Amino acid sequence: MPDLFGRLASFAGVGKPVTDGRGAVSLHNVTVGYGGNLVFSHFSVDVDPGQFVYIVGPSGSGKTTLLTLLQGSLRPQSGKVMVDGIPVHSLHRWQTGVIRRRVGCVFQSYELLGHLTALQNVVLPLQLAHPRIRNPRAYATDALELVGLGDKVDELPDRLSGGQQQRVAVARAIAHQPRILLADEPTGNVDGPTSGGIMELFAELNGMGSTVIMATHDEWVLSRYPAPTIRLEPVPMRVAS
Ligand SMILES: Nc1ncnc2c1ncn2[C@@H]1O[C@H](COP(=O)(O)OP(=O)(O)OP(=O)(O)O)[C@@H](O)[C@H]1O
Ligand SMILES: [Mg+2]
Repeated sequence: MPDLFGRLASFAGVGKPVTDGRGAVSLHNVTVGYGGNLVFSHFSVDVDPGQFVYIVGPSGSGKTTLLTLLQGSLRPQSGKVMVDGIPVHSLHRWQTGVIRRRVGCVFQSYELLGHLTALQNVVLPLQLAHPRIRNPRAYATDALELVGLGDKVDELPDRLSGGQQQRVAVARAIAHQPRILLADEPTGNVDGPTSGGIMELFAELNGMGSTVIMATHDEWVLSRYPAPTIRLEPVPMRVAS
């Protein structure tokens, strides 16, 4: 097994256990939606540093919306979104790199770049988040081996199965051992043993101090890897006044 996390421990500023209180996430009185349709109205939630929590709820209840708020690409209409001490709600678009350095994201739709290989899809965001990192290819290769894709590093996404693309997205999110991992249905398209492997990786990351927030419908994962849940109710579409 590649020693990604051991290697990370030697990279200054990353890989150290989180002991300084950072890694917390909070939404305070958040109202957000798309156009006039509100998904959350005056919604608040806190996640402590180093916690592992699931976001559960029926399709359309706002799991992806919540994660998108946390990674800074959706702005609330009102309220505060704090991630690792950063007021995400007030960041300018050009400042979202601040979030990228702290947060790893597994998107529900993977969002791989189609013209880049699996390895390049992991290396590029790693370099953007940590320009001073030495030998990012080694980190990226380790991360891809950890998700069982050591033999697919040079493949383009359209030559990979859905589950393999999902695993590239997981490798990309964990490659820099983020302080906070946001994962949207990361086991939605893989078989049981592969789900288990992804969950073991997340547990290892969490064991080193990273906060993990994971949206899932996966009953097998929820029963096999129990953790506190943030339960979202179905939202009747509300029109903002
Ligand atoms: N880009 C968008 N534009 C307009 N409405 C959107 C957009 N994204 C989501 N919505 C709406 O917001 C609500 C919450 O969607 P969201 O994707 O957050 O749900 P979800 O809980 O992640 O669902 P799923 O389990 O199907 O992934 C839904 O009613 C959806 O139609
Ligand atoms: Mg979703």
